[in-house]
Amino acid sequence: MRALLASQNANKLAELRAMLPDWEIEPLVADDYPEETGASYEENARIKARFARTHADGVWAIGEDSGIEADALDGGPGLHSARWAAGDQADALLAALADTDVRGARMRTVIVAVSPAGDEVVAVGVLEGEIARERRGTTGFGYDPIFVPTGLTQTVAELGEEWKNVHSHRARAAQAFAAASARAMRS
Ligand code: IMP
Repeated sequence: MRALLASQNANKLAELRAMLPDWEIEPLVADDYPEETGASYEENARIKARFARTHADGVWAIGEDSGIEADALDGGPGLHSARWAAGDQADALLAALADTDVRGARMRTVIVAVSPAGDEVVAVGVLEGEIARERRGTTGFGYDPIFVPTGLTQTVAELGEEWKNVHSHRARAAQAFAAASARAMRS
């Protein structure tokens, strides 16, 4: 199966390629990416998928949107995880939670994909955990150095790529997408 991914994030592309070994995924290179104006991850992922579809010829078009939701911030930064503060986003979240013991959080990925026939598939992945007190680990990207999955002591950045490719929010969304796209192709 072939797909065009509407993302300019090389980390996401590398992860999705590893998580979906049966898929040949190419990034959409364009200078007119649409604004992410949706009111939910799903709406933003759909905006990206529909944009990819205008460039996808006979292949699946994939949009993906992710974020981190901290209980101490009432689920924020959530949808605004990429741009809610100046500078490094993980450091900004550590600073925002410096004075609280409320560490619960989750990372979420929503994939919206459109098949060559025009069928839409939506897949969601969630990883529950806590925000660490300091950065730890060197793998991954974004909030990985400060996110500790429930039941573990290491951050995602310490757990490493192999762990992330099986257990992360994106991995769970990718697994759900693989199953849902297979159903769509059978029907
Ligand atoms: P977006 O989906 O590209 O809008 O990403 C939203 C924000 O979440 C950005 O700051 C990303 O760096 C961060 N982010 C997305 N996916 C991950 C991940 O797998 N681990 C850690 N941070 C992530």
